[in-house]
Amino acid sequence: MTGNVPRHVAIIMDGNGRWANSKRKPRLAGHRAGVKSVRASVETATQRGVEYLTLFAFSSENWSRPEEEVSSLMDLFVEALRREVDELHRNNVRLNFIGLLDELSSGLREKIRQSEETTANNTGLRLTVAIAYGGRWDIVEASKAVARRVLDGSLQVDEIGDAEFASGLQLSTIPDPDLLIRTGGEQRISNFLLWNLAYAELWFTDVLWPEFDEKVFDEALSFFAAKQRRFGHTGDQVEAVEC
Ligand code: FPP
Repeated sequence: MTGNVPRHVAIIMDGNGRWANSKRKPRLAGHRAGVKSVRASVETATQRGVEYLTLFAFSSENWSRPEEEVSSLMDLFVEALRREVDELHRNNVRLNFIGLLDELSSGLREKIRQSEETTANNTGLRLTVAIAYGGRWDIVEASKAVARRVLDGSLQVDEIGDAEFASGLQLSTIPDPDLLIRTGGEQRISNFLLWNLAYAELWFTDVLWPEFDEKVFDEALSFFAAKQRRFGHTGDQVEAVEC
């Protein structure tokens, strides 16, 4: 891999259920296999110099899956944290969670709190896991934060710009994703980081998440490296700045 490396990669991990079906296994086996791909993606991101990796693990809409699948997934998150946090910590990874975490069980919330605390001073890859997250919910919450500041008089309506608004978003302290990867064949954003993905390059693959590995990640990074990002400018303007 050579060339431009994205600072921030966001991933919609899709296809666990179909992978399990294709192997005549229960859906949970697909999610379990997905944990292995999470590990591989953290390793590859670290090795390639990606600074921020954000994973969509459970959307607000996923609560409407069958109760048994939801509760198995929640147990899997607890188990994955129990098993993986020491290794992440040894690798200098800082772990953070975003989403409506109040909706999670107290056991999972406690594991999340501990893992964030353990890794808080790490300076390597910043790994953010979105659980019970929805992009519209995130924007609504940011709107409420801005409205409160207007009501308490610390902000005037005319002072509200991108930066003031974005300071209320879940990912307010890190740069926007440069590259979004979605596995599993669908070409949708599915209510992930709606605000933050405004200028991201989008890369879709038919590969199912349990089969996502270093080689597939490198394909996405090569796609990104070949792009010229213009942010609304002309190609000539961008080249002039790069020279
Ligand atoms: C989407 O596949 C996947 C999920 C809703 C869960 C993702 C969870 C993991 C990979 C487990 C571990 C994560 C962490 C961060 C520890 P799907 O079930 O929608 O697949 P389908 O579209 O084929 O049914």
